[in-house]
Amino acid sequence: MIFSKKLITWYLHNKRDMPWRQTTNPYHIWLSEIILQQTRVAQGLPYYNAFIEAFPEVSDLANASEEEVLKLWQGLGYYSRARNLHFSAKYIVNDLEGVFPDTYKELIKLKGVGDYTASAIASICYNEPTPVVDGNVYRVLSRYFGVDTPINSTKGIREFKELAITLMDHDQPAEYNQAIMEFGALQCKPQNPYCIVCPLQDSCQALKNSSINRLPVKLKKQKIKKRYFNYLVFYVKGEYTVIQQRVHSGIWQGLYEFPLIESEKIKVDDIRSHAILKELINEEDDHFDITLYQEEPIVHKLSHQHLYTKFYIITAKVLPYIKETQKLISDKNIKKYPVPILLGNFIDSFFDKKLVSKRT
Ligand code: ADE
Repeated sequence: MIFSKKLITWYLHNKRDMPWRQTTNPYHIWLSEIILQQTRVAQGLPYYNAFIEAFPEVSDLANASEEEVLKLWQGLGYYSRARNLHFSAKYIVNDLEGVFPDTYKELIKLKGVGDYTASAIASICYNEPTPVVDGNVYRVLSRYFGVDTPINSTKGIREFKELAITLMDHDQPAEYNQAIMEFGALQCKPQNPYCIVCPLQDSCQALKNSSINRLPVKLKKQKIKKRYFNYLVFYVKGEYTVIQQRVHSGIWQGLYEFPLIESEKIKVDDIRSHAILKELINEEDDHFDITLYQEEPIVHKLSHQHLYTKFYIITAKVLPYIKETQKLISDKNIKKYPVPILLGNFIDSFFDKKLVSKRT
């Protein structure tokens, strides 16, 4: 049996039952594929269900506010994906009269849709023989064919795509693409793949050469930048806090956070005299208190940056002055705003306790 047929046979016996495998609705497939670029299948499922429930049609997503979209995306990270999803939904509804593009060539014109997503939608929804190449596919192909070209080099990207094109199953593009990805996720796993029971074991180059653990080859990433975030968490009159939206491009654009001092070496006394705090504090409040919430910084790892984060609780009695870009909100409403998961976790731990103690 040829490579693609072996994979499809394996897939039909082993695939996980997922809601996006029961449909060829391009809007649903698009949503699932964008979510699955961010997380694994099991973790992506609740996000997919929440999006479909909130926005059953592409027009519902188009008509939503950016904040609603970011709130549902909260926790997945890489928020530009969510913003692009929203942008393209509006484009489909307003410029394409709600008709989803139905070829690879048209799909790839959508913002946020690259070669992978266009290939996935074109094959799964329209049976176009366009091969997907994601992390799972790189692993399966590099091992089976013994290819050690780095998968994140220009040469590697081209080589693997060319190989993928030659392997494409033209009779069953939808099944083949999903089969190779599912095979990579469940069988040809990064660690401890199930080679003993693998349907491709007879002809796998890496198994033959004992190079399973060395493939695929990936070039070392660029140096990670360290950043030091000190958040000012106001807690005024036992109820109010201050948040602001990140407007600049870069990490977390469009999400909310507390007023921020970005500085490596800073202590409570430096915070007290810092311009960002002084602008906020009402001068009538001469008894405000600053406490560091936890001694050790929380380290939040993004792909190119590690954020060393501390939260300073500013307990005050008089409402602070806020700028146009800031909002004074009641703690009851804080969970309505989309925030990075790092802050979401802090809010759960700090404000939930405060709310419970106020009620009891
Ligand atoms: N990973 C991302 N998309 C997938 C799909 N459609 N099938 C299997 N695994 C996937």
